[in-house]
Amino acid sequence: MKVAVLPGDGIGPEIVAEAIRVLDVFRLEGVGLETEWADVGGVGVDRHGDPLPASTLALCKQADAVLFGSIGGPRYDTLPREQRPERGLLRLRKGLDLFANLRPAQVFPELAGASTLKSEVVSGLDLLIVRELTGDIYFGEPRGIATNAAGERVGTNTMVYTESEIRRVAHWGFQAARQRRGLLCSVDKMNVLECTQLWRDVVVEVSREYPDVTLSHMLVDNAAMQLVRNPRQFDVIVTGNMFGDILSDEASMLTGSIGLLPSASLNGSGQGLYEPIHGSAPDIAGQDKANPLAQILSAGLMFRYSLKRSDLADRIDQAVKQVLKQGVRTPDIAQPGEQVVGTRGMGDAVVAALRAQ
Ligand code: IPM
Ligand code: MG
Repeated sequence: MKVAVLPGDGIGPEIVAEAIRVLDVFRLEGVGLETEWADVGGVGVDRHGDPLPASTLALCKQADAVLFGSIGGPRYDTLPREQRPERGLLRLRKGLDLFANLRPAQVFPELAGASTLKSEVVSGLDLLIVRELTGDIYFGEPRGIATNAAGERVGTNTMVYTESEIRRVAHWGFQAARQRRGLLCSVDKMNVLECTQLWRDVVVEVSREYPDVTLSHMLVDNAAMQLVRNPRQFDVIVTGNMFGDILSDEASMLTGSIGLLPSASLNGSGQGLYEPIHGSAPDIAGQDKANPLAQILSAGLMFRYSLKRSDLADRIDQAVKQVLKQGVRTPDIAQPGEQVVGTRGMGDAVVAALRAQ
């Protein structure tokens, strides 16, 4: 099994290092895992003049999975758009055709009090957002900032979906729901946007193949509200790229910290990219403060979806649950009076829990 490791910028390298220690536990047990490192994002720009160097893309294409840290930082925000770290990530998603982005949000019982929402609203929450990742306004043409005939600057982006793009991610939504509680909520804005009317129509067509799944539809503004009003009504949410970006950040706070949420981005052939949903947190980079659990849980998803070792994925999930039960806390999930560990300390605890299994 070959894993491309792309730590990226900010806290990326420190949290990826903790996930690698988890991989090392399995390697010592004899699991055949080959890892190869490559630059992406700001370090790609610094070292190769490109946020997605050709050698990085080539490595990712021939790997079974990509373990990705985080990218970006204030230093790069004034670069031409093509050279910004975010473009590197978007080109990588597109280059590997990673159209299905799975973003699970679970509330660990010990952390129900860490959410800004009342624990009786969030406790027991177990939600999966399936976000389309290679289409929508993120990639639509035309795009850009131009000057019109009146001499005024005009900014343009285009929301566009083909029916095949909608259909393939809808299948992911239905199949995930089938393995869970059987509820799929498709989120759109069909009252205003034609593109998302097509989204709804195609999701309804696909639903005929899944009579065992209960499909509902929700407008995105209402979905944003329902997520904080009564999040446990949701099992699986399927939605487009931009709505999924926004709703998954919102959902992360139900769990207490964005530092807990992993993600898997998959293509049609089982290859995947695994990254925390949070960013590079430049304000705390290099200070041993970042929570590595989203990264470690992302490695867990990698074993589940691309490396087909759900036994190892289960062990990672168990180890994380165990350390949280033991009261090990990074600053983002600590409540007043609780003792706090750093990035490395959290990694130590997970490694110890894995070894003790
Ligand atoms: C995410 C991030 C990215 C996105 C950025 C970094 C390009 O916010 O993965 O949610 O918008 O998709
Ligand atoms: Mg986002």
